[in-house]
Amino acid sequence: MPQMFPESFLQEVMDKNDVVDTISRYVQLKRSGTSMKGLCPFHREKTPSFHVSADKQFYHCFGCGKGGNVISFVMQMENLDFIEAVKLLAEQAGLTMPEPSGRTDSGAAERRRLIYKINTGSARFFYDCLLSERGEAARRYITDRRLTQNTVNKFGLGFAPEGSRLLARLRELGFSDDEILLSGMAVKNDSGSIYDRFRNRLMFPIIDVRKNIIGFGGRVMDDSVPKYLNSPETAAFSKSYNLFGLNFAKSAKDSFFVLVEGYMDVISLHQSGITSAVATLGTALTPEQARIIKRMRQEAVIAYDSDEAGQNATKRAIELLADEDVTVKVLTMNDCKDPDEYIKANGAGAFHELINNAKLQIEYKISKLQEKYNISVTDEKVKYVSELAAEFAKIKSPVEREIYVGKTARETGVSADGIFSEIDRLNAASERKNRFDHASRGLRGNPSVGRLSGENPERENALRAEKTLLNLICFDPQVFQMTAASLSSGDFEEGAHRELYERLSAVRNSGAEPDARLIVAQMSGSEAAAGILIQELNIEDNVLAARELIRRLTAYRKKQKLLETVTSGDLSQSQKLDEMREYLRKEVGTNEQHEQHEQSEQYGE
Ligand code: CTP
Ligand code: MN
Repeated sequence: MPQMFPESFLQEVMDKNDVVDTISRYVQLKRSGTSMKGLCPFHREKTPSFHVSADKQFYHCFGCGKGGNVISFVMQMENLDFIEAVKLLAEQAGLTMPEPSGRTDSGAAERRRLIYKINTGSARFFYDCLLSERGEAARRYITDRRLTQNTVNKFGLGFAPEGSRLLARLRELGFSDDEILLSGMAVKNDSGSIYDRFRNRLMFPIIDVRKNIIGFGGRVMDDSVPKYLNSPETAAFSKSYNLFGLNFAKSAKDSFFVLVEGYMDVISLHQSGITSAVATLGTALTPEQARIIKRMRQEAVIAYDSDEAGQNATKRAIELLADEDVTVKVLTMNDCKDPDEYIKANGAGAFHELINNAKLQIEYKISKLQEKYNISVTDEKVKYVSELAAEFAKIKSPVEREIYVGKTARETGVSADGIFSEIDRLNAASERKNRFDHASRGLRGNPSVGRLSGENPERENALRAEKTLLNLICFDPQVFQMTAASLSSGDFEEGAHRELYERLSAVRNSGAEPDARLIVAQMSGSEAAAGILIQELNIEDNVLAARELIRRLTAYRKKQKLLETVTSGDLSQSQKLDEMREYLRKEVGTNEQHEQHEQSEQYGE
């Protein structure tokens, strides 16, 4: 797929979008030696193993193995396909796209763009309706809910009238019925007629961080049900991957997001200057949303409704966010249902106060358990302490844990030692479970995992040697000459390595210097390639190292061949014996060679 853009254009896109600058928009990077380092945005970690090389223009995470160039980074972060990512980067750099060579777009991306267009047309229509004669009741509703004209414009609110007027407008705009159905703006009933999904509702466009209108929420203006209706999941809209208000909140100055339940809460908060508010879209927080939050902020303040449903949702959200190592605080609004009502009753300043006084999640949990149990009753005290111990067991910082254990000991009269041993017991149990999970995963057998975790050290060594050699080939023409003289791509153990070798050879054979970024862009196994090429090898003498690596790989290959021969069914016993004798005579050396082998270990990693 990547070949669809001319090489020169891809090169220009990469030249104009520095990988460090681009990644810095998502990840905090710190200089570390010749490269930059930060917390990996693709997996959960505490110590940075995500490296970005300014020289080579790659990133690579030594923790999860994700890696690539600026294009693949944008693909992964923004959930785009290759073409969309190149377009976005080209746009940002002010480059004009080359004429497409034939219809090369992937179907899904094309559908997505179509839906954005339909949604944009719909939002305009709803907005016009709101301002028109037909929108009078809706305008009144908006005023009653104390939304300003500014807010209406900022959020692009609108009104969906009765009948199937949107459908008529979209047809006028040239969209076919099939296309309109695809967008979810109209539905087909059993008898086959098509009508508007949203009728007589106040409309909230849902806008992603790239300012695409991906869907809508629509609220009735009386007590009828359902109170809210949302766009269905479409090629452009996935509830679990988006947050309402994120398009604005992402540029808020706060170091946290305020997480609320409803559209109206977000809008009210933004109108009150609390622009870091976001909401899930009518579902509980998902792991994907927690990850999005983690990528953008270190901290989240949960301000869910004060009813029971809201409090239960709070518990789940705490766990998901804590799993992502987001610092979680919880805010409580005494006797107000939700942030929107709280602000109406007490003003924006009071809500700011609530944010400042939000409890750390552990404190919130303690206070919930205090409400639940009466610790003057022994029975309940036992439950209270053991439920708390389970919470404390999740605390990673020993200092923090010590503090809470101490507090609980003082409160309940149970000794701190007693609480600690309960924590240890729980941790031991969960560790046993982890180990079991691990073991059973191993048995089920993901072969590559098994091999890498040391089941076949010889193969592991060979793979490491291949990586080092490929890196050298990319940057040193002499190493390529040496390698080409003794190995062919088929001698490389792993598919990605074979592909990388073939690409490097093709460039070197044509007399050019490989452009590592471009090669990574064109590789199907681009992650593996980036991981190999990003390494800064501190090898003094490339030629000497290459000689050793080639020797080891040749030896490994020969041994593999012998093994294949010996286990093959096509040869007679005596033929096999001959092969083995020949191999032993030629390959198994003296002690000297063994020592040399030991020394050369340094080139492995
Ligand atoms: N929701 C939904 N479908 C419903 C009810 C609710 O998708 N039938 C989602 C909406 O995203 C809504 C959120 O859940 O914003 C919270 O619902 P609720 O607390 O009932 O509404 P409020 O946001 O308080 O709305 P309002 O203030 O307009 O009554
Ligand atoms: Mn509300």
